[in-house]
Amino acid sequence: MKALVKEKAEPGLWLVDVPEPEVGPGEVKIRVLRTGICGTDLHIRKFDDWARHTLELPLIVGHEFSGHVVEVAPGVEDIAVGDLVSGEGHLVCGKCRNCMAGRRHLCRNTVGLGVNRDGAFAEYVTLPASNVWVHRVPVHPDVAAIFDPFGNAVHTALSFPLVGEDVLITGAGPIGLMAAAVAAHVGARNVMITDVHDERLDLAGKLGVSLALNVTKSSIEEGMRQLHMREGFDVGLEMSGNPAAVRDMIAHMTHGGKIAMLGLPAEEFAVDWGTIVTSMITIKGVYGREMFETWYNMSVLLEKGLDLTPVITDRFSYEDFDAAFDTAASGRTGKVIMDWSGGARPERARNEPTKAEAAATINTRGGARPERARNEQAEAEAAATIDRSA
Ligand SMILES: NC(=O)c1ccc[n+]([C@@H]2O[C@H](COP(=O)([O-])OP(=O)(O)OC[C@H]3O[C@@H](n4cnc5c(N)ncnc54)[C@H](O)[C@@H]3O)[C@@H](O)[C@H]2O)c1
Ligand SMILES: [Zn+2]
Ligand SMILES: [Zn+2]
Repeated sequence: MKALVKEKAEPGLWLVDVPEPEVGPGEVKIRVLRTGICGTDLHIRKFDDWARHTLELPLIVGHEFSGHVVEVAPGVEDIAVGDLVSGEGHLVCGKCRNCMAGRRHLCRNTVGLGVNRDGAFAEYVTLPASNVWVHRVPVHPDVAAIFDPFGNAVHTALSFPLVGEDVLITGAGPIGLMAAAVAAHVGARNVMITDVHDERLDLAGKLGVSLALNVTKSSIEEGMRQLHMREGFDVGLEMSGNPAAVRDMIAHMTHGGKIAMLGLPAEEFAVDWGTIVTSMITIKGVYGREMFETWYNMSVLLEKGLDLTPVITDRFSYEDFDAAFDTAASGRTGKVIMDWSGGARPERARNEPTKAEAAATINTRGGARPERARNEQAEAEAAATIDRSA
């Protein structure tokens, strides 16, 4: 099968032929349809210090994917050949104190798909059945492919009650954008999102935010005035990993405000602890997704009309992976998807994606895609959709 492999200890990725993975005990084999490119994958291609110290080569990269089940190990129940699935990319040990208590997202021995073991940028991937999420609500394979980062957004956004609250989101990358959509959808009063790139803030405008603010041109105070806010934000969702954004957020929280931090800073930095103490601010770190409460939340949010399609801006064939990675690395787009289906119509899923897909529409930024991907996908997209009537 074709797979995108980190073969050598140098910048780059290589599209090569490798043996198909075999189903081990308790595992499921999946024909990959679509994959999403994550910041982690960009670090791996670049082979920065983190990648140099973390990876054992060769490695099939990638952890954001959707696909159809083609084989299940004997004894695996509730997952059938043909099911449309996504994968939870954190493989937990099942034995540590937190795992034993059912808090699997807090496992201290987590193994990352496409980081610590072979990943999903390939025609086939195997996963433990306990890491497979079957889509029982119809969902487009493109959206199913980004359930991992969507889960980061949902886990963070739902960390604190949002109904009627004023919410500040720093960073309008794909995850910040999805968090903004979730906050608006679940009934926040004001959702202000900030970034330093207008292209990303323009996308935020399509997701129901109250204000998309470029912090290089305006200030959070000015934004608060526009929204007639007086006392500061009730909830902050930090989605940039940028020290200036974190400091700005802390300075604009109301007393008793709550901050959920997903953004991963590159290094240590100072913040005003005096303000955190005297404003009595709660800060919660967020990593990955709750297994599987976040996944349940995601499916239900989509079922109840949350629309993520504006977040997906670019689509490529896996053969054009370098162009896809360059686009993702530009930092100006939404989510970048690679198509691994090779045009073949995969086996019909139990939850009938064919029918579901025929019912809805995916927004595409036509001009941004390379000619080849557009042609290959035109037919699929014409037939493809998200059922928003449910
Ligand atoms: N904790 C986890 O489990 C987890 C998982 C995935 C990603 N992450 C992290 O979450 C963050 C968001 O992920 P992403 O894929 O959307 O990343 P991204 O890098 O695409 O988005 C970050 C955005 O922050 C913006 N930004 C930079 N400086 C800013 C400032 N001063 N104010 C406001 N915005 C600013 C950037 O322009 C960019 O658009 C990243 O830091 C990523 O490393 C964490
Ligand atoms: Zn990711
Ligand atoms: Zn564990």
